[in-house]
Amino acid sequence: MGLIKVQSVMSNELAKRACLGRPPEPPYEYLLNDPTESIFIGITRRFSVPFTWTFATLTNPHISVVGITGSGKSFFVKTFLIRASYIWNTNALIIDWAGEYLGWVTQSGGRVVSLGKGDYINLMDLSGMKPLDRSKQIMTALEILTDISDFPDQRRLTEEAIEQSYLNAGFNLSGAPDPRKEAPTLKDVTRLLEEKLQEGTYEYPAELENAVYRLRQFSREGQDYFARKSTVDIGVLLSSGLVDINLSGLPDEKFRALAALFILQTTKEKMRMEGWSASKGLKAIIVLDEAWKVASDERSDAVTIVREGRKYQFGLIVASQNPTDINEAIFSNVGTNIMMKIKFEKFMDYLQGSLNFSQFIRGEISRFGVGQAAIELSFQTSVKFPSVFVLERIIGEVPLDVYTITMADLLTENEMRDVNITKEYYFKKIDLSSKLVSNNLTATTINATFAELDARSRMMEIKELVNTLLKNGANRDSVIGFMRSLGLADEIISRTFINVKG
Ligand SMILES: Nc1ncnc2c1ncn2[C@@H]1O[C@H](COP(=O)(O)OP(=O)(O)O)[C@@H](O)[C@H]1O
Ligand SMILES: [Mg+2]
Repeated sequence: MGLIKVQSVMSNELAKRACLGRPPEPPYEYLLNDPTESIFIGITRRFSVPFTWTFATLTNPHISVVGITGSGKSFFVKTFLIRASYIWNTNALIIDWAGEYLGWVTQSGGRVVSLGKGDYINLMDLSGMKPLDRSKQIMTALEILTDISDFPDQRRLTEEAIEQSYLNAGFNLSGAPDPRKEAPTLKDVTRLLEEKLQEGTYEYPAELENAVYRLRQFSREGQDYFARKSTVDIGVLLSSGLVDINLSGLPDEKFRALAALFILQTTKEKMRMEGWSASKGLKAIIVLDEAWKVASDERSDAVTIVREGRKYQFGLIVASQNPTDINEAIFSNVGTNIMMKIKFEKFMDYLQGSLNFSQFIRGEISRFGVGQAAIELSFQTSVKFPSVFVLERIIGEVPLDVYTITMADLLTENEMRDVNITKEYYFKKIDLSSKLVSNNLTATTINATFAELDARSRMMEIKELVNTLLKNGANRDSVIGFMRSLGLADEIISRTFINVKG
C-alpha cells in the first residue's frame, strides 16, 4: 500500500517536471508525411524530426504567419509557394501590399500585375456572379473602408444606384450574368446619382450629395483605378502559376484595401463555383502579407475563406508583424499557425490567449532568431499531445553569398513601423568583410565572425553580430566605427551596447 502511494507521488512529480521542462513534440508520424504529397519546412528542435506539411490531416489548408519585421515571414511564404508548385502544381496569387515580392516573383519566372500602373480592375465585374450578389459585396467593401454604414440613407442610395447600373447595362439582377454583356463601372453609378441630384426632387439632398461625394473618390479621373474596364481577370490569374499583384502603385491604404477585398471576394466566388475536386493537392494559394484592414475586419472575405473549411483546396496565407491586426477568427480557425519571433508583450498576450500555448513556448518565441518558428497544427482528429512545437529553422532556398544583418531585435514598435529606418542590411561577403577591415577589425576576428555567420545560414541580428565580434577579440571602438559606417545613429549604437552582455 505504502509503496503504491510512493510510486504515484513519484510519477506525479515526474509528470510535473516533464511539464516544466521542454514539452514533447507531436509524434513523428504526424510530422513526417509522404514526401511526394507534402512540403518540407524544416527540422524540429527537440527530436530533429523533418517536418513536412500537408493539410490531409489538418482541419484546413489555411496558414497564419506572425513575427516581427525581419523574423522570416516572407522567406517562409516564398519557400512554401515554390515547393507547393513543385509538389502539386499549385497556383499562387500574392496580394503584395508594399511590392516586396516583386523582385522575387520576376526572378522566379512569375507574372507581375501592377495595379494603378497600367493594370486596372473594374470593381463591378461579375466573373459569373449574380449582379445582386456583387452589389452586396461592393457595399460590404465600402462599409469596411468608409463610414457609410453610419448613414443609412446614403447607403441605400448607393446600393440602389449600383443595382440600377446593372439593369441599365441589360443584366438581370438575380440571374446568372450574360458573359457577352459588359459590366458597368462606378462611373456609371456616380452619374446616376449626379442626375438624381440635378433633378432636385429627392427629399434629403444633403444625403444624396454626400453619397455622390463618397463615390467620386473612386471614380474621379486620375483616381479611377477601380472604375475602368478591367485589364486583368482575377479568375484567370488564379490559375496562372505564380502571380504578384503589386498594390504599391496605388495612392493609399484605402485603395490597396479595396483591391485586396475585391480579389478575396472574387476568389471566394471562384472557389464556391469550382467546388470540390478529387485531386490531393492545393489548387491555389492566396497570400495576404501585412494587409491589416483586410485581415482584421470580421466582414472581410479573409475570414469567410478561412471559415469555409478545406473542401475547395484553396489555401489562404495571412502574414503580419502585428498579430492584433489579424482577426481572432482567423487565428482560431486556420489549420496551421506559424509564430516567428515576437517582441511585444501585448502581441504575445493576444497570441497566447487565442492559441493557448505554454509559458515555455512563450519564452522560446521571444528568444527566436531569424527563421526560427513555433508551429501549431490543428488536426482533424482529437490528439493527446501538445499541438505546438518548435522548428530549429525554416529551411529554404537561401541565395548564396548574401549576408543578412537584421535590426529587429533592437528597434521599438514605432521604429519598426517607421519606413525611414532600415531594418535589414544585405551584404555580399566581400563588402561586409571590407567594411570590417576598414574599421580595424583583425583577420582573426573577421574569420571567426564569418564562421559563426555561416553556421547560422548567413544571417544574424545586430546584437548577435556585435556580441560575436566582441567575443572574438574586437575592441569596442572598432565595433562602434563599423556600426557608424552602416549609418546607424549613435543612440541606436549605444542601445546595442546596453543590450549586449559582457
Ligand atoms: N529561414 C531562413 N533561412 C535563411 N534566411 C532567412 C530565413 N528567414 C529569413 N531569412 C532572411 O532574413 C531576412 C528577413 O526575412 P523576411 O522573410 O524578409 O522577414 P519578414 O518578412 O518577417 O520581415 C531576409 O533577407 C531573408 O532572406
Ligand atoms: Mg515580409
